[in-house]
Amino acid sequence: MKKYLIAPSILSANFARLGEDTANVLRAGADFIHFDVMDNHYVPNLTMGPMVCQALRDHGIEAPIDVHLMVKPVDALVSRFAQAGASYISFHPEASEHIDRTLQLIKQQGCQAGLAFNPATSLHYLDYVLDKLDLILLMSVNPGFGGQAFIPSTFKKLSQVRKIIDDSGYDIRLEVDGGIKVDNIAEVAHCGADIFVAGSAIFSQPDYHVVIHAMRNELLK
Ligand code: DX5
Ligand code: ZN
Repeated sequence: MKKYLIAPSILSANFARLGEDTANVLRAGADFIHFDVMDNHYVPNLTMGPMVCQALRDHGIEAPIDVHLMVKPVDALVSRFAQAGASYISFHPEASEHIDRTLQLIKQQGCQAGLAFNPATSLHYLDYVLDKLDLILLMSVNPGFGGQAFIPSTFKKLSQVRKIIDDSGYDIRLEVDGGIKVDNIAEVAHCGADIFVAGSAIFSQPDYHVVIHAMRNELLK
């Protein structure tokens, strides 16, 4: 797999033509599709469920779908998303009563497992589950909405997680989510991230290829 992956968040896509917009962003060079699931309970917004994920698969989307669950409770949705074609499933530790069990459930369903951290969530949740993780997702905004500004304390947290991953020796991806743009992606990469979620920065542009290409150029720096 490539060192750096760009994962457009389709939260900022055109929902009235989601299949087409998703295919377009992949044709423009995206690696993953980031799929934000919000429940109006864990976060104050409501988005898409497993039926929409299945609809994208039925539309012919073959790229990895990176499902970010911002829901509480978590467990009942894991198998639904696995059956609907999710590749990665990440959840927030505060939203699960039994974090280890939820991680096991994700793996049993044949998906890659991720744990997602809000800007003020402590990293201590990583202490006993690193062996079960394929992905650590660091939120660089508070979850719930696209188009928010990157929170600078994320830089330090990224470096801390990068060290935890490297010291562990496990093969774990470090994904950053929120406020990622062409002008900050290089600095975020230097702090250790290797998957970059970007919603508004990509979908607000008329030509997705131009912005994805600009992001990749920044990542060469
Ligand atoms: C926020 C979501 C993000 C968001 C990113 O709760 O998890 O994935 O869509 O959007 P931008 O890139 O616009 O900050
Ligand atoms: Zn997200």
